[in-house]
Amino acid sequence: MTEQLKMDAPATDRRLDGMAQGLVGAPLDRPEGPLKVTGTATYADEYRIENLAHGMLVRAPGNSGRVRLANREAVAAMPGVLAVIHDPRLLRNPAQGTANKAPVQDPNEAHYLGQPVALVVAESFEQARHAAQSLEIALEGGAPRPVDPETAAYEPQPAKGVDQGDLDDAMAKATHSIDVTYRTPSHSSAPMEPHASIAQWEGEDLTLRGSYQMLKYNRNELADALGIHPDRVRILAPYVGGGFGSKLGLAPEAVAAAIAAKETGRPVSVALTRPQVFETTMRRSETRQRVRLTVDPEGRLTGIGQAALVSNLPGEVFSEPVLQATHFLYAGENRRLSLDLARVHRLCAGSVRAPGEAVGITVLECAMDELAEAAGIDPVELRRRNIPEKDPESGKEFSSRRFREALDSGAEAFGWKDRPATRSRREGEWWIGYGMASAARINVLKESRARVTLAPDGTARVETDMTDIGTGTYAILGQIAGEMLGLPRESVEVVLGDTDLPAAAGSGGSWGASSSGTSVYVACQAIRAQLAQRLGVAETDLTLRDGQAVFDNRTESLAAILNGDEIVKEGHVLPGETSKAVRQATFGAYFVEVAVNGVTGETRVRRMHGSFAAGRILNAKTARSQCLGGMIFGIGMALTEEMAFDDRDGHLANHNLAEYHIPVNADVPQITVELLEERDDWASPLQAKGIGELGICGAAGAIVNAIYNATGVRVRDFPATLDKVL
Ligand code: MOS
Repeated sequence: MTEQLKMDAPATDRRLDGMAQGLVGAPLDRPEGPLKVTGTATYADEYRIENLAHGMLVRAPGNSGRVRLANREAVAAMPGVLAVIHDPRLLRNPAQGTANKAPVQDPNEAHYLGQPVALVVAESFEQARHAAQSLEIALEGGAPRPVDPETAAYEPQPAKGVDQGDLDDAMAKATHSIDVTYRTPSHSSAPMEPHASIAQWEGEDLTLRGSYQMLKYNRNELADALGIHPDRVRILAPYVGGGFGSKLGLAPEAVAAAIAAKETGRPVSVALTRPQVFETTMRRSETRQRVRLTVDPEGRLTGIGQAALVSNLPGEVFSEPVLQATHFLYAGENRRLSLDLARVHRLCAGSVRAPGEAVGITVLECAMDELAEAAGIDPVELRRRNIPEKDPESGKEFSSRRFREALDSGAEAFGWKDRPATRSRREGEWWIGYGMASAARINVLKESRARVTLAPDGTARVETDMTDIGTGTYAILGQIAGEMLGLPRESVEVVLGDTDLPAAAGSGGSWGASSSGTSVYVACQAIRAQLAQRLGVAETDLTLRDGQAVFDNRTESLAAILNGDEIVKEGHVLPGETSKAVRQATFGAYFVEVAVNGVTGETRVRRMHGSFAAGRILNAKTARSQCLGGMIFGIGMALTEEMAFDDRDGHLANHNLAEYHIPVNADVPQITVELLEERDDWASPLQAKGIGELGICGAAGAIVNAIYNATGVRVRDFPATLDKVL
């Protein structure tokens, strides 16, 4: 029943182009969209479950010392309180998603300020919150611990770097060179829906209604934390109100709810407050990046250096992969890229909105702007001259890469030729400037499974534990199945977000649509083969359209062919040699116009354009929306977004959306997105690459470069707030 496809060779089967339904690529609405915006979709903490108790996490007031609950008995006696739980399993760091287990450090010790250390369970949410606020946490025997990455001990990550040729020599010989250091702050994922879990036990079986991105991993993490077999755990997450990396792995409320439900014998809900989302789920590491670039007289890069410092808690394995796309974006034979991981006692660092490129390419693109200025070359032209023929480190071919086209087409669409000279265009108080940056992001295919059922009435159902975190999974999987089976979109039901269903790749790293979509494609391919067999025709001679099969000049309805039977197939895709044989990535270019107020230093983004190439576009509307979202993240990253930590103890000063500033509608100008036509046979039979995160990979750099063009001020310390611009 299971059809397997291991991507060991390029898929040259252009089947989707030959299908008759016209669904794949169409800008269809998300079927769950109206449910999500009308309050009809039920989110994790909205289930009305009988006898539900409520848990509230209590956190460490410092980052060292042994945890003691000072007034536990008094709190346990408060009205409505059912339990005060101090269980070492609560103290685990948030998990990292891709099965990379967070180590359990000394479970009785506090490691960062805000770390969950206890849970109070009560009859009502208000009683739980009141009791939790009354619980006093004493930290005994603690000593000051490093929280500042600049002064903390660090560990080099040689596997992430490269040392090729002689960069120092290239610097000495270069016609033009730059040596600049940039800093980017920590970012919070800040999804709209705060993390929440309702746990319910039936005997030894646990059901968790949660809000997560990668359910098969989340199930394993939860089982592992509780010390039970994964078969005992079912996670349901049909609707997820954004993840942005913070729901790749478990956040602390899931384990807490499961422990509390076991201990009280009742279903228990634990919902994070907004400050808790900021302080206990993962942050993006801040970065310090020294970039050195050298060019010859023709503006060809002879050397690239990027030395990054990032941070995480002691023992954590994740290090922000700053250099990920620097390895292949530009030519240059002398390359020295290095990554150091500082050990600090701030909350755990992990994947947030395009880990790596979001900060790495942004800074590289600011440095490229500085180099263009130093060399007297137009910024677009500098990039055009440095597109490498092959991967400059591995020598591998690129699977597909319309990078030059994105630069040219974007420049044309934006009107780049009218770029003013530095600090030369003024409208009253406002200085006007243009900026641009390249976009690049790795492409990944992940193992994924889906089951497709063609029912006797000629409708279809797609089932997988894949999630839709607002990215378009419900729409896209329905489009692929409809296309392959010749059904209108409305005749395909898509069921997601349940670990009882075949295990998918999950939503993360921009791999979701192509990986889970390929598993649906493979299942549908098997169904088509079976239909053809029933009809005694070659599958290639079979056209499926509007619920009918057309073959040998005959037309028959699917219902008639099925004759009361159903066909059920599972598709299973695995990455193979194509992931290693070539360099797979997505590319693009951003163009921005800003106005900077000469009196206040305020920057307004006036126009923004992005041209992107990411293989086949599976849904032109959801793809565009992802790009818009990424570019809006870029506005925040460039101008306002930063986690402000107290340098003494790692306390987060701005733990809510009132003080952690992200763009609102009034900050977002007209944004245009161009999706370039591309097919990538190496990526998958869908010939699609991941587009989810491409729009943020460099966007903020284009804005900061535009600020320079407007004002002549280089801000090398993100975000470019008013005080830094003036
Ligand atoms: Mo993403 S930061 O891999 O959800």
